[in-house]
Amino acid sequence: MRHLLEIDDLDADELRDVLDRAKKPAEGVLRGRGVGLVFEKPSTRTRHSTEMAVVQLGGHPVTVQGAEVGIDTRESAEDVARTLSAYHAAIGARVFEHHKVERLAAAGSVPVVNLLSDEAHPLQAIADLLTIEAEFGSLDGRVITYVGDPNNVFRSLALAAGMSGAHIRVAAPASHPVPQVMLDRIAASGIDVAVHDRPEAAVAGADVVYTDTWTSMGQEAQAEQRRRDFEGFTVDDTLLDQAASGVILLHCLPAHRGEEVTAAALEGARSRIWVQAANRMHAARAAIWWLIDKAS
Ligand code: CP
Ligand code: NVA
Repeated sequence: MRHLLEIDDLDADELRDVLDRAKKPAEGVLRGRGVGLVFEKPSTRTRHSTEMAVVQLGGHPVTVQGAEVGIDTRESAEDVARTLSAYHAAIGARVFEHHKVERLAAAGSVPVVNLLSDEAHPLQAIADLLTIEAEFGSLDGRVITYVGDPNNVFRSLALAAGMSGAHIRVAAPASHPVPQVMLDRIAASGIDVAVHDRPEAAVAGADVVYTDTWTSMGQEAQAEQRRRDFEGFTVDDTLLDQAASGVILLHCLPAHRGEEVTAAALEGARSRIWVQAANRMHAARAAIWWLIDKAS
């Protein structure tokens, strides 16, 4: 049984297959079948894009909030996985601890898709690649610079883009360095990350500048401190001017204008955030289709 808990659950050829499927319809793949979706955190894009992806595949999404299902409070992750496997062709889960999606995958008998954990956001990474490919034709040799908090979105992006031949750079403040365990995890896939502690040098010549919130879901109590820690890491037009002339700006959203990115940059001509958000649905459809194919 194949799962998508992090993007390198796919090898490079399989990732290519998923990206190609994202450009095709796949009506009927899930006809008469369900996909159970559990959200322990809020969501706009992931819930709507995944539900609509299931509809496009001919299936029926059943979404529940985390508290309703109560993974490890009402019953164990294992019992939830076994139960949902009896009704659904696949399970999607947005969780705090990454270990929970691993436990769902280990205990259930259907594919599990990680809809964001503290460590990874693979469906976002697929949408990111689709957006970059639409712009540049290919990832190969492109320079992708991530500015800000080296978080779940960064890890999946670095893995996905690195697997596709891009050069990865990251700029994070000394107070929030890229964790060594994350660099090791990325290096295990043969991907080299150039680490900077200032954004200016990191964006020089970059084809893609990517940023995400300084305060991820679950870290709200640290928001004020994080605003201070990440001062100087706001992506604005002056920073983008130092990148390659055809640079595009990506952000997984939700955005915090005036913090990790200025409103002007986000709304500017170099931004591709709405194409990127739209690609979430194509990414979800392709990934679920691929997983269902492998399971049958
Ligand atoms: N990018 C993303 O995952 O957005 P949501 O949190 O709204 O799903
Ligand atoms: N890093 C953010 C991404 C939200 C889509 C978070 O985990 O909250």
